[in-house]
Amino acid sequence: MYDFRPDAAADPAEIHRQLLDAADALTAGEPDGVANMANVAALLWEFLPDLNWAGFYRVAPAKSGEERELVLGPFVGRPACIRIPFGKGVCGAAAESRAAQLVADVHAFPGHIACDAASRSELVVPVLREGAVIAVIDLDSPSPARFTEADAEGITRLAALLAPRI
Ligand code: SME
Repeated sequence: MYDFRPDAAADPAEIHRQLLDAADALTAGEPDGVANMANVAALLWEFLPDLNWAGFYRVAPAKSGEERELVLGPFVGRPACIRIPFGKGVCGAAAESRAAQLVADVHAFPGHIACDAASRSELVVPVLREGAVIAVIDLDSPSPARFTEADAEGITRLAALLAPRI
């Protein structure tokens, strides 16, 4: 049985340190990327309060043509849009720019894709392998301005840890 949980008294920076340690312990030595993304989605849900969606979109071939797009990966939350073109919505913006997107008010983000009407703020961090985006980590919250720079830094470290493991 795994019992990874943040200390009740931990501040946000400490929660991110504990989340990173737990993700490292769970994914070290496991070559199956889907299993690793599934367990990390569960950890994100367990460690970070006030989320309504946490998970991955992977860069994969589009259904038709040569293009690549974001395709839904392991997550916790309500069923979500399956395919997102680069440049569309918050996830597509993170994939295209290869930069984290910290969105305090999703209603003010041009082209935001509402998968769950409860979402009010969002953090999307690209997972980069040798400079190329291979996935994004997407976190949604029902609270406006839920995510901070500390969250963006913590999830960016998590993305770096996972890049060779997913
Ligand atoms: N809101 C995202 C779409 C993914 S869902 O939030 C799970 C976006 O605008 O890219």
